[in-house]
Amino acid sequence: MDGIFDKRNKLNNLTGKEWLKLTKSFWVSEKCKEDRFAFQHPAPFLIKDIEKLISMFTKEGDIVLDPFNGVGTTLVACNNLKIKGIGIDLNKKYCYLANKRLKELSVKNKQKIICGDSIKEILKIKEKIDYCVTSPPYHNILKNNGQGLRAKKEGRRNGPRIGVDYYSENKNDLGNQKSYENFLNLFSKIMMAVYEKLKDKKYTSIIISDFTVNKKEKCVQGDIVMTMENIGFEFSGTTILLQDNKPLYPFGYPYAYKINHQHQNIINFRKVKI
Ligand SMILES: C[S@@+](CC[C@H](N)C(=O)[O-])C[C@H]1O[C@@H](n2cnc3c(N)ncnc32)[C@H](O)[C@@H]1O
Repeated sequence: MDGIFDKRNKLNNLTGKEWLKLTKSFWVSEKCKEDRFAFQHPAPFLIKDIEKLISMFTKEGDIVLDPFNGVGTTLVACNNLKIKGIGIDLNKKYCYLANKRLKELSVKNKQKIICGDSIKEILKIKEKIDYCVTSPPYHNILKNNGQGLRAKKEGRRNGPRIGVDYYSENKNDLGNQKSYENFLNLFSKIMMAVYEKLKDKKYTSIIISDFTVNKKEKCVQGDIVMTMENIGFEFSGTTILLQDNKPLYPFGYPYAYKINHQHQNIINFRKVKI
């Protein structure tokens, strides 16, 4: 243990020193060899990044929810920290892969995967939850980004994707919403259910980056904060997750400035009843 644990700390098991480090407004994304399994999904978390969040926002006996579970990285991180996790995903293939991943890690009972639509499944969960960490599909960008500058080059992998283009054909998949407004509406409905299930004074972290819609840059972070505040969440600050090893694309060169996103925003919220 690095530092002194304050007995008044009911949020986590961190010492003052460890707590302070995690309040830094940027983290450098950290890889480990167990991340490899998740590359069968187009956009997985890295385990170590999620472990940091779970260690900040939970302590023993707590329950974590990920309503967009993918291949279960949140549950792997929960397992490593001996915290109970519940993950929901509507894509059967990812649920199968997540189950396989947990089995290979000999995870015992504590982690639960629900294969279904979060809009229905969250409210069926019996327990109240202590923390929600999740990353929704980034609207329909997986359907758009396969062309042009980002097209797969011979013998080279385009990010972590191995032969998967987008999530599913399901109409309730956030990645299949025709407009950005529909995407935000459906995201909002799912987050209302999270709000309902979350204990008072507990936290939710949404991991997302800005992206383009119809070739125009969107301030997605701003829209997510507005959506969450409308539900009743209080904004607690954004941690920039640096991904300095991503390729750079000359999108607008040499005519116009276009940004290369080399980070994700970890946008943190608290449920505070007024
Ligand atoms: C960005 S990925 C999450 C990846 C995950 N963090 C991981 O590490 O594997 C988003 C996931 O949300 C799922 N999804 C989309 N709409 C959903 C919905 N309405 N209910 C449940 N899951 C949904 C997709 O199938 C996809 O796997």
